[in-house]
Amino acid sequence: MSIPPTYSFMRFLAAKKSIDDRALNWQVWQRLLAALPRASPEQPLRILEVGAGIGYMVERLLAGDVLTHATYTAIDMAPALIAEAYRRLGQWANEQGFQVHENRQGQLHVRRTGQDITVETEAIDVARFMVREHGRRAWDLMIGQGFLDLIDMPATLPALCSLVRPGGLLYFPITFDGATVFQPEDDAEFNGAIEACYHQMMDQRVRDGKPSGDSRAGRRLFAHLRAAGVDVLAAGSSDWVVFAGPDGYPADEAYFLHDIIHTIDMALTGHPQLDAERLGAWVAQRHAQIEQGALLYIAHQLDVLGRVTPLVRERQARNP
Ligand SMILES: C[S@@+](CC[C@H](N)C(=O)[O-])C[C@H]1O[C@@H](n2cnc3c(N)ncnc32)[C@H](O)[C@@H]1O
Repeated sequence: MSIPPTYSFMRFLAAKKSIDDRALNWQVWQRLLAALPRASPEQPLRILEVGAGIGYMVERLLAGDVLTHATYTAIDMAPALIAEAYRRLGQWANEQGFQVHENRQGQLHVRRTGQDITVETEAIDVARFMVREHGRRAWDLMIGQGFLDLIDMPATLPALCSLVRPGGLLYFPITFDGATVFQPEDDAEFNGAIEACYHQMMDQRVRDGKPSGDSRAGRRLFAHLRAAGVDVLAAGSSDWVVFAGPDGYPADEAYFLHDIIHTIDMALTGHPQLDAERLGAWVAQRHAQIEQGALLYIAHQLDVLGRVTPLVRERQARNP
C-alpha cells in the first residue's frame, strides 16, 4: 500500500482491530470470563467502558457469547467515534442475527436466544462522567482498552475505580508500556533517539492544563491499582506485532503502520534533539519499507485484570 493521502483516527481504530485480536492476552481474558458474576434478566451485569472508541470491545464480548444479560455503558470524549460505535454495533449485531432495536432513551437493545444486552453510548470526558456518576451508579465491571496511557493515572484512577462496586472487576487491556520497536534497525542510535523522544512526548503531553500520558503506564498500573484499593488478579503482555506475511500485511494493517509513522512524524518534527533532515529521511524510509512489506513494528503493552477489594473500600469510606 502506498502512503495514504489523508489520515483518519477512525480508520486507525478500525485497522488496529485485527492487531488487537492477535495481541490480547488470552490468559487474562480467560481469567476475566471466569471471574464474571452470573447474570440474569433480573440482575444484568453492569459494564462501563471508558475510551470506547468505535466500540469493538462490546462486539468482542457479544460475539463470544460472553454476555448473557447486561447493560453496557460505553463512553468516549470524541462524539464522532462514539456515534460510529453506536452505528457499527447496530449493523454488526443485525448481521450476526441479533434482533436490534433502539428504545425510547436512545439505547440499543440487542437480543437473541440466551442474550439480552442494552447498550448506551455517550460522548463525554471521563473526568466529567466520574463527577456526575460518583455515588449515583456503580458498575460490576469497568473496561479501559488502550486508555490508561492517555490519562493522568495517579489523579484519575482512584475516582475511576470508585465507580466499580466493592468486589467488582477492572479490565485494562492494551496498556502501553515503554517499548516501540522498528526493524530493520539500520541506524540503531538514531532509532533509539526517536524512541526516546517519542516516549518523552507522551510523558509530557498536557490536556486541559493537566498531564495526560505515561509511556510506562503498564508497569506503573500495578502500584496505582494497589493505592486505589484494587487487587491484581491477572496480568500479561499484549504486544502489538505487525509484520508482512507471504501475502503482505493482513487486513488494513499497512494503513495502521503508515498512520503510526505519520503520528511519530507529526509529534517529533521540530524536536530540538533531532536533526530535521535525518528525521525526514527516517520517516520516508519507514513509509517505503511499509510499501515493500519490510517493516516490522512492535509495541510493548500489558493487559491487567483487577478486583476492587471490599475491605479497603469500606475502610476508605470510613476514613475518606
Ligand atoms: C487509543 S484509543 C482506544 C479506543 C478503543 N478503546 C480501542 O482500543 O479501540 C483511546 C480512546 O480514548 C478516548 N479518550 C482519551 N481521553 C479521554 C478522556 N479523557 N475521556 C474520554 N475518552 C477519552 C479517545 O477519544 C480514544 O477514542
